[in-house]
Amino acid sequence: MLTELKIRHFRCFERFEAHFTPGLNLILGPNAQGKTSLLEASCVLLRLQSPRTSRLADIVQHGQRGLLVDGHYAGKHLQFYYSEHRKKLALDSVEQPTATDYLQAGRVVWFSNTDIDLIRGAGDLRRRFLDFVAVQANPDYRRALRDYTRALRSRNLLLKSPTSKWKEVCAFDAPLLQSGAQLTHARVELTTALKPLAQLAHTAISGGVEKLEAHYQPGAGPDFAASLAEARMEDTRLRLTTVGPHRDDWELTLGGRPAAGGSEGQQRTLALALRLAAARFLEAHFGTPPLLLLDDIFGELDLVRRTALLRELSPAAQQLVTTTQLEWLPLGLDAHVLRLGSHES
Ligand SMILES: Nc1ncnc2c1ncn2[C@@H]1O[C@H](COP(=O)(O)OP(=O)(O)OP(=O)(O)O)[C@@H](O)[C@H]1O
Ligand SMILES: [Mg+2]
Repeated sequence: MLTELKIRHFRCFERFEAHFTPGLNLILGPNAQGKTSLLEASCVLLRLQSPRTSRLADIVQHGQRGLLVDGHYAGKHLQFYYSEHRKKLALDSVEQPTATDYLQAGRVVWFSNTDIDLIRGAGDLRRRFLDFVAVQANPDYRRALRDYTRALRSRNLLLKSPTSKWKEVCAFDAPLLQSGAQLTHARVELTTALKPLAQLAHTAISGGVEKLEAHYQPGAGPDFAASLAEARMEDTRLRLTTVGPHRDDWELTLGGRPAAGGSEGQQRTLALALRLAAARFLEAHFGTPPLLLLDDIFGELDLVRRTALLRELSPAAQQLVTTTQLEWLPLGLDAHVLRLGSHES
């Protein structure tokens, strides 16, 4: 569990220190006091990435050069310094040349009040969800994702350039195909594992009238090399790579109909089921539950779903939960409360 978190020049915080306990930790305060930022810092500490932005530069406090997150998780001391020009990692005070060992320290699942976009939003949000879980479960996935993204970016740059030749574009096909095959393989495995877990979680929260189905839809045919060759005319015309795992999607249906057409409550429940499935998958994979970060979600749920969610969260998991008020909290529930802003006592 996360016992101690120190941050410096992180979003609105010049300097801040927080202590957490096992089980439920509530981060309580009015709007804009840095509640979500504290959850984000816990995620950056463990995973070196933010669930809110793909650009770490965004989370450095305005006017500062770099940020520092420093904390103890599962008996390990983690330190991460980031600036646009320099990144530094230390595990138990030993500087790390790569992130490989550092990232083994802990896993995270992030629940957010904007998770409804996982259901109704574009495919890139579902890919990001899958990637965030896959990177944690499988260290090789991170490398494959980085190689694929680089090869795709280079190939697209050449496609956009009016002077480049097709032969030059094709030079990126080999790394694209190789890393792409790894991504597809891992995503098929992951979606296959997540589906029954999401169905169980969905039944538990919704009462289970309509069945959730989830189909992985690859962004290329079964033979990626052949799809890439076939797409030559289209890629040239549109000046971008039109097939590949960057076009994968995860089609979600409820009672046979597209989930995105469901009511807001149905979509929120579905999104919760996906997050719970991710948490259960990581717990089963590693034998210990991930750190659960829940950003402002209880206020959005009705009493039945709120109670069901609290019941469904692994009792062994440490939970950091942000909220602006405590009215929703069931009586008798034991929680450590961290107050931010004008509530501070
Ligand atoms: N890079 C940054 N530098 C300085 N301040 C920032 C930066 N990024 C965000 N902020 C500010 O940090 C403050 C806290 O944001 P945060 O989202 O953590 O608040 P919150 O307590 O979760 O609020 P809410 O209850 O509305 O969700 C905001 O006022 C925001 O404008
Ligand atoms: Mg917030």
